[in-house]
Amino acid sequence: MEAKAVVPTSSAPADLFKTIDWSFFESVPDQVHTVHPYPAKYIPEIPAAALSLAPKEGQILDPFCGIGTTLIESVRSGREAIGIDLNPIATMVAEAKLSGWSEEDADALPRHKEGLLNAARESDVDLLDRARERIPRVDHWFDPVSQAALAGTAGYISALDPTDPWRVRLGTAVSSIVVRISRQESDTRYAAVPKTISLDGIVASLDRAVDSIGRAASTLATQVRANATAQTITADATKLAEIVPPDTVGAAIFSPPYPNAYEYWLYHKYRMYWMGFDPLKVRAGEIGARPFYSGSGKLTEDDFAAQMGKVFAGLKSVLLKDGIVLMIVGDSRIRGRDVDNAAVLARCARENSFEVTGLARRSIKATRRSFNQAIARAKYEHVMLFERA
Ligand SMILES: C[S@@+](CC[C@H](N)C(=O)[O-])C[C@H]1O[C@@H](n2cnc3c(N)ncnc32)[C@H](O)[C@@H]1O
Repeated sequence: MEAKAVVPTSSAPADLFKTIDWSFFESVPDQVHTVHPYPAKYIPEIPAAALSLAPKEGQILDPFCGIGTTLIESVRSGREAIGIDLNPIATMVAEAKLSGWSEEDADALPRHKEGLLNAARESDVDLLDRARERIPRVDHWFDPVSQAALAGTAGYISALDPTDPWRVRLGTAVSSIVVRISRQESDTRYAAVPKTISLDGIVASLDRAVDSIGRAASTLATQVRANATAQTITADATKLAEIVPPDTVGAAIFSPPYPNAYEYWLYHKYRMYWMGFDPLKVRAGEIGARPFYSGSGKLTEDDFAAQMGKVFAGLKSVLLKDGIVLMIVGDSRIRGRDVDNAAVLARCARENSFEVTGLARRSIKATRRSFNQAIARAKYEHVMLFERA
């Protein structure tokens, strides 16, 4: 059924908010957004619509930026943007997509591709030994062919200059195929299953992955309006005020992690190990991660509220006076109890002098639900607009 267009009664964010049908059922994210799997990313139409409510002044912030959906839509609409995420795989992918593109990059692509593919084929014993010492249960999750190829490619990438954008681009290419060439069933199922993996198959996947990140970065570079730029920072969003200068943000647009919805660190654990990051550090700071809320985990929605309270305190410091916060959140089930996360977040906001000025429910199309619904069971999400009280 066609949604009826609602005519705004003013240009106030709360009035504009009501004119938007937030469901976006027909969303088909473009290649820039899909170059690397990230199951809980949101659809680009959401930040694009949220940007239309943002005041003209100030940068756009996503404190849980994932693989950069908000940042990409921000630079496409000519806004400066800053993204924070605890997961270094997420910020690496976002940075790679937003890394710009020059003639030299186009020239360097075949050279780097050949170097990376050779490194995958060569089977360097020293690199492999070092990786095997560092990575726990590596034989359970990776067969010997994948181990040798990943050790070689990681070695090639770590030899590049830390400021060379090809580091994050090639890191993204390799990371995008790690789950496929492991025994992990999928990005949303952490179970080892038998798979047939050949070196030829790995090399062919890498070949496509390098082209794919090259295409994403070069396409986005042509779409950035008015030289807008975006930066990504790997950090904990509960420390926002230490990371972002005060009074610089016009709009914070994001979907936060919430209890029991997903476990980012776990599903990206081996990506992190191969890329030289420490997944256990990410686990410790991750908001909402399942083991803290189920099984022997003791956290409740009050703990979630305490963490999000810190995020709101940070938002209070970094937002301009007329700045807005636009958030998408689903509900949780914690030990058999349904938890209304919109109510939890409204409380955190009130305690930090924000009020809810827009609230809508968006249905999620069953076929588009992107992560493990056996746990999250979400049929809809809340879209929430906050402004200073
Ligand atoms: C729902 S996802 C956001 C996805 C993003 N909107 C996108 O489109 O890619 C939530 C994100 O919060 C991140 N996260 C969890 N705890 C965090 C923390 N304490 N600080 C910063 N990021 C955190 C996760 O790594 C995940 O990327």
